[in-house]
Amino acid sequence: MTGALLHAEGLAKIFEGRRRLFGPVPQVHAVADVTITLDRGAALGVVGESGCGKSTLARLLLRLIPLSAGQIIFDGQDITGLNENAMRPLRRRMQLIHQNPSAALDPRLTAEAAVAEPLRVQRIASGRVLRDRVAALLAEVGLPPAFLHRFPHELSGGQKQRVCIARALALEPDLLVLDEPTSALDVSVQAQILEVLEALRKRRGLAYLFISHNLAVVRQSCDRVAVMYLGRIVEEGTAAEVLGQPRHPYTRALLASVPRLDARGAAPAAPGEPPNPAAPPPGCAFHPRCPLAIDACREALPPTTDLGDGHLVRCLRIGFS
Ligand SMILES: Nc1ncnc2c1ncn2[C@@H]1O[C@H](COP(=O)(O)OP(=O)(O)OP(=O)(O)O)[C@@H](O)[C@H]1O
Ligand code: SF4
Ligand SMILES: [Mg+2]
Repeated sequence: MTGALLHAEGLAKIFEGRRRLFGPVPQVHAVADVTITLDRGAALGVVGESGCGKSTLARLLLRLIPLSAGQIIFDGQDITGLNENAMRPLRRRMQLIHQNPSAALDPRLTAEAAVAEPLRVQRIASGRVLRDRVAALLAEVGLPPAFLHRFPHELSGGQKQRVCIARALALEPDLLVLDEPTSALDVSVQAQILEVLEALRKRRGLAYLFISHNLAVVRQSCDRVAVMYLGRIVEEGTAAEVLGQPRHPYTRALLASVPRLDARGAAPAAPGEPPNPAAPPPGCAFHPRCPLAIDACREALPPTTDLGDGHLVRCLRIGFS
């Protein structure tokens, strides 16, 4: 696909639970039949309640866990079946930023050493060139030279996340997968990190897959948004349309729950009990919580309808919403 850096078709992940004394092995369909495209330099937000499959989708796209089904094309290359050796040169082009920078950093490495490590391991730079490159990367994420020799325990949460971002940038990736990059940070620091990320995206032409519970963050940072419910994308489109004129009852419920978010943007939740992912409701999985549900919603998976301009909605009753 022209312009697409990453395209995934029909992705699925089934986790098998512990074998029980009686009955079948429980299975969780963490991701089911997900098709998404991420253009070069674009930012795609992925939102949905806790447990809906956002991190699993991220790990599948990065080929960090085996797929149960589907195909992944990265920069025109089918990476679905590549072994670890064949993946290695591509790994530097796709980097993951975690929610918790403290867990992502080695407590024994200074900021300088943490950012230098991938460059040293890949033999890209050494000596003075390496030092200059690391200082430039840290400056790019807003950390002045005074922080070069600090260990993680001497840095704030926001400063640690800046080190993680600089480290991810060291190998000049095309894609950053950001899994809740600001949700462990104070609100004021969140805004600073989002600014850093936005500036980097513009300057370097990076593409972002941006996972967040916080719909305001996604609205601010992303061109397009995909809303996940129990492993499936139920609505996708431009951030303006999906978050401004949501058409799926679940997206509407998520947006209506925003005022209940706490300061850290904890998971929004639709009214009613989240279903058990090991025993998803038949038909449209949202039907037990949906104010518009009719009998037909319980019988078959609703088809996806394109409302135009790539605004996709998986609901039987779009005309009624
Ligand atoms: N390694 C695993 N083994 C078994 N089940 C798993 C595994 N990883 C995730 N799951 C299950 O898959 C589903 C999706 O989990 P995932 O971590 O992708 O959700 P999430 O949307 O990222 O949630 P959160 O917002 O809480 O981070 C959940 O039901 C989870 O319990
Ligand atoms: S298909 Fe039916 S249950 Fe599912 S969201 Fe649409 S109206 Fe609600
Ligand atoms: Mg997650």
